[in-house]
Amino acid sequence: MTGLGLGAAGLLAACTGAGDSGHGSHSGSSAGSSAGQPGASSSTGSAGMGGHDLGRSFGPPTPLEPTPGQRLVSATLEPAPATVDLGGVNASTWAYGSAVPGPVIRATAGDLLQVTVTNRLSAGTTVHWHGIRLRNAADGVPGLTQAPIAPGATYRYDFVPPDPGTYFFHSHVGVQIDRGLYGTLVIDDPREPGGYDAEWVVVLDDWTDGIGKTPDDILAELIAGGGGHAGHGMGMGMGDPPWGMGGDVTYPHYLVNGRVASAPETFTAKPGQRVRIRLVNASADTIFAVALGGHRLTVTHTDGYAVQPRECAALYLGMGERYDVVVTLADGVFPLVAAPFGKLTVAARALVRTGSGDPPAANARPAELGGEILTHADLAPADAARLADKAPDSVLPVVLGGGMGNYAWTINGAAYGKNAPLQLTAGQRTRLRVSNQSMMTHPFHLHGHTFALAGTGLRKDTVLVRHMETLDLDFDADNRGSWMAHCHNAYHGEAGMMIELAYQG
Ligand code: C2O
Ligand code: CU
Repeated sequence: MTGLGLGAAGLLAACTGAGDSGHGSHSGSSAGSSAGQPGASSSTGSAGMGGHDLGRSFGPPTPLEPTPGQRLVSATLEPAPATVDLGGVNASTWAYGSAVPGPVIRATAGDLLQVTVTNRLSAGTTVHWHGIRLRNAADGVPGLTQAPIAPGATYRYDFVPPDPGTYFFHSHVGVQIDRGLYGTLVIDDPREPGGYDAEWVVVLDDWTDGIGKTPDDILAELIAGGGGHAGHGMGMGMGDPPWGMGGDVTYPHYLVNGRVASAPETFTAKPGQRVRIRLVNASADTIFAVALGGHRLTVTHTDGYAVQPRECAALYLGMGERYDVVVTLADGVFPLVAAPFGKLTVAARALVRTGSGDPPAANARPAELGGEILTHADLAPADAARLADKAPDSVLPVVLGGGMGNYAWTINGAAYGKNAPLQLTAGQRTRLRVSNQSMMTHPFHLHGHTFALAGTGLRKDTVLVRHMETLDLDFDADNRGSWMAHCHNAYHGEAGMMIELAYQG
């Protein structure tokens, strides 16, 4: 398989075990030995994304062991204070290791993943496996599926990822995702034909921690000051601006793979090679438009699921969204640019080098960003990714609101913890009717399930819902547990734009 080339420099390989049974004894006794005890409290200052005290208690997670023939993939993560080099700019932050993004963890669909997390922070934390339809106990939502992992404690996330694709993981406590606590999770498809010569992981982020204010300070100021929008620019010459306001936070830096635009990562390849690029938007408050100067991109997947291949000059990624694109490389040096939507700033970038020549200037803006920019609405699912046609058994309204005058974001008229959980019935085809009654675009994310957009049938787990738009999201209620659905703007989520989904009966 030529498709499984190594990712970018600066992305550490996780200590994934190959399928040898020697790893079978790895489990040891660490699982849950010091995980959240019932009633354990975290020392995070903020209530925590989903960390509002719902008065629930949690024991250690039930470990899973590989079944006969199942491959075990073990990895470790140590959230810890770190000073990271963003390309001549040092930031002291919290990270999984010594760099951002954190490691790429890689497994194959159906493998058993055992990820041991030892918390070296002074605050409680969790790890959420974004987009994976996993068992509830491994979902990493504080107050809902576990107590935060206390400082010094260890928690092991055991789960079997059922679907191949590009995913990521991040802290689900407070606005910790807006520090360096994120990494990429790639689930390979045993039946994947490949058809490309190399594969690159490209993670986008907006950065303040250790340079500007901390995310916790920003959240406190937004709430105290009633909000306010960072970029009043509506579109910045990026063609038709679809998303309204461009986020709430002005960041000192925007990053591609942890690097500022003036010190970009360089990917090298040969002219004519086909490359699969796995794009991940790990930012807290920024929608990015992505283009590779001098090239057209073919979108092949979003949020892990295959789409009918669609060529474009550029595409939008909301927070929490992933897109895979394939590109045939020309000869020269090209900027792979991620332009923050609606924020007046230098775009983030990496470089792609297949030949000699000087790189374009750090602020060079590829012409590709000046025309049509693809969104999820331009895509249709591959046949294999379709959800079987079925009329919904129940329709649940999900009204996104807030942001008028004060920094309070709501679902169904109230902040998380005060809004009533959505009630799911196991076995039912369920429709979330997500209606955005606010002035901003919100990346709406569902845990534990993936949905199909009514109309196109596109399969996703995170979708941008624009101002005054209503999207129907259909899924089968086939994964019992307490789950979250929320806006993936970290500040909106923390300010209340979240809701619980509960299985009744
Ligand atoms: Cu990526 Cu509830 O999160
Ligand atoms: Cu939002």
